[in-house]
Amino acid sequence: MKTIGVLTSGGDAPGMNAAIRAVVRTGIANNIRMLGIRQGFHGLINGDLDDMEIPSVADILHRGGTVLRTARSEEFMSEDGLKKALNVIDVYNMDGIVVLGGDGSFRGALELSKAGVKTIGVPCTIDNDLAYTDYTVGFMTAVETAVDAIGKIRDTSSSHGRANVVEVMGRHCGDLALYSGVAGGAESIIVPEMDFDVEEICQKLLRGRNRGKLHHIIVFAEGVGNAYELTKEIEEKTGIETRLTVLGYIQRGGSASSFDRILASRMGVRAVELLLEGKSGRAVGFKCNEVIDVTLDDCLLQEKAFEHNLYEMARVLSV
Ligand code: F6P
Repeated sequence: MKTIGVLTSGGDAPGMNAAIRAVVRTGIANNIRMLGIRQGFHGLINGDLDDMEIPSVADILHRGGTVLRTARSEEFMSEDGLKKALNVIDVYNMDGIVVLGGDGSFRGALELSKAGVKTIGVPCTIDNDLAYTDYTVGFMTAVETAVDAIGKIRDTSSSHGRANVVEVMGRHCGDLALYSGVAGGAESIIVPEMDFDVEEICQKLLRGRNRGKLHHIIVFAEGVGNAYELTKEIEEKTGIETRLTVLGYIQRGGSASSFDRILASRMGVRAVELLLEGKSGRAVGFKCNEVIDVTLDDCLLQEKAFEHNLYEMARVLSV
């Protein structure tokens, strides 16, 4: 193995830079030529890449976003796009590629590995929607961002005696809502994995109000549907002023938490080690406090289990 490329693809996630740093420095420590591919598979198709040396990744550990930039490339998923990418891989004599991203990026990585390119995936997404790993890089930082916002919204909720719906990201996965709702002490958590009852939410809100509670936070996962409609319905049914805050892209930015920096570093190192061991078509993960690796096929097939215990715990604790 002489040359390895690294790219970040799909939605960015805090900690991607820590993972890039780990991949590049592990490669260089093993006398590998490291190539940084810009804008994910889009850059791979267009040969938009550069050599990365030790200073290329200096001072990025704490930075949000991804220094390699990212993109969602439709073209790569076409036959022609894959052909162009394989040509660039050939021209630059790349012996392996590390793909940092979520499930869409892993599908791209799988295509590359099926085409004979040694490829390893590192899970980086705020959604935590990959079943084979307990955590994806960026998830816990996004939870911290959402919890910080929920705390601020609770302040103004109390001042005005309002209810507040807070919409968080997560695509079809409720983990971001569940974790931030539990840590933020939300009165209700609404996730795509569980049915919810508006009447129950309204009764809880009114019960709290009768006890003298001034705030009420409902964390709503974007994958559920229309948060604005729910906000209006709650206000109509309870007569209590109810406001909606969509947290949006602040959840994707910012400096990664220590947890995510360590996770990204451990997984980035392991990804390069796997390539050096001659492995391909695998994704690195983190299960029961251990760095693991599974086939990309497996990690895309496994169905994510929802943490019912945590959800039920929140229902008991948030009255
Ligand atoms: O996958 C990460 C994520 O932030 C999701 O939570 C969200 O649904 C989506 O990306 C937004 O995608 P885009 O950046 O294309 O708007």
